[in-house]
Amino acid sequence: MIAKIQQLLEEVERLQATGPEAVEALRIKYLSKKGAINELMADFRNVPAEMKREVGVKLNELKTKAQEKIAALKEAVETNDAGTGDMDLSRTAYPVTPGTRHPLTIVRNEIVDIFSRLGFSMAEGPEVEDDWHVYSSMNFADDHPARDMQDTFFVEAHPDIILRSHTSSVQARVMESNQPPIRVICPGRVYRNEAISARAHCFFHQVEGLYIDKNVSFTDLKQVLLLFAQEMFGTGTRIRLRPSYFPFTEPSAEMDISCNICGGEGCSFCKHTGWVEILGCGMVDPAVLEANGIDSSVYTGYAFGMGIERITNLKYQVKDLRMFSENDMRFLKEFESAN
Ligand code: PHE
Repeated sequence: MIAKIQQLLEEVERLQATGPEAVEALRIKYLSKKGAINELMADFRNVPAEMKREVGVKLNELKTKAQEKIAALKEAVETNDAGTGDMDLSRTAYPVTPGTRHPLTIVRNEIVDIFSRLGFSMAEGPEVEDDWHVYSSMNFADDHPARDMQDTFFVEAHPDIILRSHTSSVQARVMESNQPPIRVICPGRVYRNEAISARAHCFFHQVEGLYIDKNVSFTDLKQVLLLFAQEMFGTGTRIRLRPSYFPFTEPSAEMDISCNICGGEGCSFCKHTGWVEILGCGMVDPAVLEANGIDSSVYTGYAFGMGIERITNLKYQVKDLRMFSENDMRFLKEFESAN
C-alpha cells in the first residue's frame, strides 16, 4: 500500500495538461468518487492496525498534493500558460476598461458633423477674451447689462480681460482675419456669473454658426436650421421662429423645435406647449460686419448660437446640469454605447 501511494505521489508530481478538458480528466482520474485516491481510501480499513498511522499520513499527503497540483494546472490553463511554455505575452496584466466620451463631447461632435456636411468648417477662439471681441465688436452698447459683473467674470487686475460669456466672440475673430465667403461652426466653453443649480451653471458650452457671403438671406438661415433640427432630432421634427433681440443680429429670432419627448402633444418637459426652445439666431447686424472689417453694402450673413447642454438634455433627458461636471462614473458610463 505504501509503495502504491508513493508511486501515485510521483505520478501526480509529473502531471501536465494542455487545456481545461485535460485538467478535468485528471481530476476524474485522481480525485473523483471513483478515482484512484478514493479507491485507496476505501482499502484503508484493510490496513493492519499497526500500519494505520503511517499509511494514513501518507494517504493524506497524496490527497493534498493531488488537489494542489490539479488546482494549479487548472489556473495555468485558464491563464493560458499550461506549463507548456506557450505563454500569451500579449495578455494584459490587469483588466483594461476603455474610457468613454463625455456626453457633451458626443453631442458636440454630432452637431459639428451635421454642419460640416453642409459645408461649414470649424473655428475656435480663446476662452479668456477681451471686451472688444466679446462685447464691443458684437455691437453691445457700453452700458449693456450683459457687461455687468452679475453676468461676466472679470480677470481682477484687468477690467478689459474677461472669460467669454458666449461663443459670438469667435465670430469677431473669424471676421477680423477672413473675408467672405465665411462659413464656420465654432464650438466652445463659455462662462457666466450664475449661482450653480440644477438649471444653471457658471460654465457651459455653446456652438456658434456664422455664414457671410453675397445675398445670404433669412430663408437660407431657416432652411439650414430646419435641416439641422431634423438631422439631430429626427425627420418628423418641426421648427418655429419667434422674433427676439440680440445686439449683434437684426432681425433676431429664437428657434423652438417640436418637443421631441412628447412629439408635440404636450408634456411636462415642454410645459405642455409642445415646443422647446433650442437656439438664438438672426441676420448679422451690418454694424457688426463693419466693426469687423467687412463691407456691409456688399455682404450679408446669418449667425446662430445654441447651448450644447440644452441639446444633450433634449436627447438624453439629463435632469440636472451639474451631472455634466461632477465626474460621476455611474452617469458617464451610461453613454458608453453612444460613443
Ligand atoms: N450669443 C447668443 C447667446 O449667447 C446666441 C446667439 C448667437 C444668438 C448668434 C444669435 C446669433 O445667447
